[in-house]
Amino acid sequence: MNGTFTYSNPTRLHFGPASLDKLGEELCHYGPSVLLTYGKQSIKKSGLYDKIVAILQAAGKQITEDPGVMPNPTVEKLAEGAQRARDCKADLILAVGGGSVCDYAKAVSVAAWCTDDPWEKYYIRMAPVDNPIIPVGCVLTMAGTGSEMNGGSVITNHAIKRKIGRVFDDLVFPRFSILNPELTLTLPRYQMVAGCFDIMSHILEQYLSGTDDNTSDYMAEGLMRSLITASRVAARNSQDYEARSNIMWTATWALNTLISKGKTTDWMVHMMGQSVGAYTDATHGMTLAAVSLPYYRFILPLGLAKFKRFAQAVWGVNAEGKSDEEIALEGLDCMCAWMQEIGLVLSLRELGATEEMLDGIAEGTFLLRGGYKPDLTTAEVRSILQQSL
Ligand code: NZQ
Ligand code: ZN
Repeated sequence: MNGTFTYSNPTRLHFGPASLDKLGEELCHYGPSVLLTYGKQSIKKSGLYDKIVAILQAAGKQITEDPGVMPNPTVEKLAEGAQRARDCKADLILAVGGGSVCDYAKAVSVAAWCTDDPWEKYYIRMAPVDNPIIPVGCVLTMAGTGSEMNGGSVITNHAIKRKIGRVFDDLVFPRFSILNPELTLTLPRYQMVAGCFDIMSHILEQYLSGTDDNTSDYMAEGLMRSLITASRVAARNSQDYEARSNIMWTATWALNTLISKGKTTDWMVHMMGQSVGAYTDATHGMTLAAVSLPYYRFILPLGLAKFKRFAQAVWGVNAEGKSDEEIALEGLDCMCAWMQEIGLVLSLRELGATEEMLDGIAEGTFLLRGGYKPDLTTAEVRSILQQSL
């Protein structure tokens, strides 16, 4: 392991079919005013909304509703939620939904009592949080982002075509998260598999970097193997609880800061995917799926030893009689076959991107320096996007 680091994660998790029973206990720690934040319609359709309201009422809470959080939450919706949180003097923001609702709740948490423009302060300038925040709790209905146990919060500003992720510190992490895999059984297949690729991508962004022997990489390999097995089962049988529970648990550990410890990280697939999202509003996991293979084929020669290890340790590629490059490329072929098998989108065009958008998407892609190609250029990003089209 390299580097000096601190590991801490303040989120308390309640996992399993009976985990919603813990919500009442959690609510005791907060004052009476709860901002209940959720998406468009899934929690009403599934009956979860009624259960949550009953638990809040039994705990004597005053509920202010903040519905309609969209996938890829916008800066305009953030302003609306911050106003609502101020008006009701929220003691807790309860986010019920997927990563978008959870990310949005964190954004409202820091924005409600911010005296500047929160987008400009927290997403453009990335200033430290110096105003009071409102605690966030989460009941998760979709597995993928890891937002339930991290400080990430991604907000989209369509006016300037930027989708920007901010990672807040421990204070803004959800205080608690309730993870009942049964709640994910109602997900449309498209969202379920997009979530699976989001998990895979989070792991790869942290795994495909560095050359040292690092415990974090062994953890990453275990998570990927579990995810691949579970996603195959879930894609075949949408009601398989065991598969969904493994997917939910890998999602949380893929991005709760653990497996990046002692490592540099890449995150260029996410930077490209987010810029695609700013132009197309496409489903996050699908934007990552569309750009991953062209990007990884491009950087493979620079991280050959790790790509070879990925092929053998994660995909079980037989090395006999093959060059390192052949082994590494076969690993990516296996990943491609898995992506096709579970039904991921492998082309940006299918997500609404056009040739005319590619310059703007490339310009809007932040260049990060922790991966195997630290000197990646905007022109190279443009070429990877072209191959992803
Ligand atoms: O709005 P409703 O009706 O609830 O429908 C949602 C939404 O349309 C639906 N859904 C969620 N749970 C469901 C369900 N439908 C049926 N049954 C259920 N149980 O699924 C759709 C997508 O939900 P969303 O929350 O947008 O998906 P996801 O969890 O993938 O979140 C995506 C957002 O998270 C950000 C992404 O950029 C994107 O904005 N990310 C957050 C990260 C973090 N906090 O660290 C990291 C990620 O890399 C990612 O960038
Ligand atoms: Zn992601």
